[in-house]
Amino acid sequence: NWRMDSFVETAISQMRKKVGSGKVLCALSGGVDSSVAAVLLAKAVGKQLTCVFVDHGLLRKNEGDEVEAVFGPEGPYDLNFIRVNAQERFYAKLADVEEPEKKRKIIGEEFIRVFEEEAKKIGAVDFLVQGTIYPDVIESGLGKSAVIKSHHNVGGLPDYVDFKEIIEPLRLLFKDEVRRAGLELGIPEHLVYRQPFPGPGLGIRIIGAVTAEKVRIVQDADAIYREEIAKARLDKGLGQYFAALTNMRSVGVMGDERTYDYAVALRAVNTSDFMTAEAAQIPWEVLGVAASRIVNEVRGVNRVLFDCTGKPPATIEFE
Ligand code: XMP
Repeated sequence: NWRMDSFVETAISQMRKKVGSGKVLCALSGGVDSSVAAVLLAKAVGKQLTCVFVDHGLLRKNEGDEVEAVFGPEGPYDLNFIRVNAQERFYAKLADVEEPEKKRKIIGEEFIRVFEEEAKKIGAVDFLVQGTIYPDVIESGLGKSAVIKSHHNVGGLPDYVDFKEIIEPLRLLFKDEVRRAGLELGIPEHLVYRQPFPGPGLGIRIIGAVTAEKVRIVQDADAIYREEIAKARLDKGLGQYFAALTNMRSVGVMGDERTYDYAVALRAVNTSDFMTAEAAQIPWEVLGVAASRIVNEVRGVNRVLFDCTGKPPATIEFE
């Protein structure tokens, strides 16, 4: 794979030259693009790079620890890593907020506040690294139609941080090239092939008000679903798949007891561009095992539904 070798080597030496003795800041989301951009910079300038990872308490199960294992002090790279455990802050802001766009705005704004505070502590920064990739470059040049959902991602930070220059080492790469560069850089496969995960995280996979308890339910249900999808070797072939928590409770029975608990919805889609998508056909046995594990292992759930709607008319996420 000579082309990626040479991209990686060239990019590292270009970044080293550009940054000189400057200070570099990166908002790390744990997603593929920001991870690859961060590692490139770490290889180029080492400890001149500081990565800030905001754990908003809306990540998937164990995700914060997985990101820390790769980028933190125990990991293979030489960089400064700051993990901000901001769960309580986000849950407090989200208490009793039910409207999807309000939730998105709150999570996006709070994310920026937390990041700003960290950036201030770090002090004068010369460069802000962004994981912008070629499709983002093209998309931002097109006139956007009506806003269906207000998007949040780490690319939205430049207005809020003081720095001299943005660096975007991946701006000429397509997604598959970014993944190959990631592998070339030694980033673990589970990060490189990570499925897309929205900035507002589980906040938009919990219908209605977010609570710590609901986050626990959706995290546990989602972890089981992903495990069963991986066991059936379906993971690489799907565009996106996850569990969401409906705001519906219904009556069930457990032993001799009546229960009145939440329904979890499982989703799986195939898509080429995430603008449209079709529901993927997951074998009944796989869904059956996932469903029975979820009701047995996750307290607070007594029913599991599968969402077989395409986009349109549904969207991929629930909010
Ligand atoms: P929808 O739900 O609009 O999602 O069909 C399309 C794709 O976009 C992802 N998504 C987001 N990604 N910030 C992101 O970075 C966001 O606010 C956001 N909202 C949705 C979603 O996971 C799917 O891949």
